[in-house]
Amino acid sequence: MRAEPYDRYAVIGYPVAHSQSPFIHSEFARQTGQLMQYERVQSPVDGFAQTLQAWADSGARGCNVTVPFKFEVPARVSHCSARVRLAQAANTVRFDEQGWQAENTDGLGLVADIQLNAGLALKGCTVLLLGAGGAAAGVLGPVLAAHPARVVVVNRTAAKAVALAASHAAWAREHGSIVLGGALHEAAALCGQGCQVLINGTSSSLAGEAAPVATGILRPNALAVDLMYGPASEGFTLWAQSQGAQARDGLGMLVEQAAQAFEFWRGVRPPDTPAVLTALRRRMASGPHP
Ligand code: ATR
Repeated sequence: MRAEPYDRYAVIGYPVAHSQSPFIHSEFARQTGQLMQYERVQSPVDGFAQTLQAWADSGARGCNVTVPFKFEVPARVSHCSARVRLAQAANTVRFDEQGWQAENTDGLGLVADIQLNAGLALKGCTVLLLGAGGAAAGVLGPVLAAHPARVVVVNRTAAKAVALAASHAAWAREHGSIVLGGALHEAAALCGQGCQVLINGTSSSLAGEAAPVATGILRPNALAVDLMYGPASEGFTLWAQSQGAQARDGLGMLVEQAAQAFEFWRGVRPPDTPAVLTALRRRMASGPHP
């Protein structure tokens, strides 16, 4: 193990060249006066376990884990948080002396973006979640923990939405909420009177498509959030704006999930995440920054 002047962290994924996490965490370190360094580590698709072990053996203190490895984390650590057990996936690992700890901050980041940055309280709302893949599964638990009246999960493959809802039913009850699953065309019936919050966890907008639900599902002044950002979110956000909704891409969630990870590692909360979001938008608008 090397003696380092700085505590070291990284994002491990494939690919990772596009990751904005080094910029975000260097801003948080500056805000909080923490001495740390944050890198990108690209792992072979079939070599995540070895990459994680090598990163820990190098003396690093932890890492973020991104696509396509989030589901591999739980089997590689000694402790998983309740959120990780529910989502069966993790995006943050801390290498403690007693063992490796896994956390999932994606959903916490989304909830913080909705409630703090967009200013909409989820308590008592009807939330419609589109998609039942990894991204949707990662955010459902924390959304339910914010006490919405109802969360409806719909997916192109309806059986996946039904299964995801069923796996969160007890968790929903614990938080005074209900969760229902179904097919895309059932969204309106399952929501009842439309939704106040629409979350797009599908990859449909990758192809520039609009949301895969019927128009009219959004209540007046609804909030529509994509879990993706950049060009991948444009199909959805333009559709949501055309429906009169307040539309957000996933960049706020990216910054907020990073803030939760930073606090998990360092025990300090970055005090000004909106400033980092503004700086990140400016940076991305000015062209590619490796
Ligand atoms: P991720 O990790 O990003 O969630 P994923 O697990 O492959 O990726 O999930 C992609 C999600 O987008 C799924 O819910 C998928 O629906 P299916 O389960 O039916 O495949 C959804 N999706 C992808 N393309 C879509 C499209 N054109 N219209 C509707 N849903 C789509």
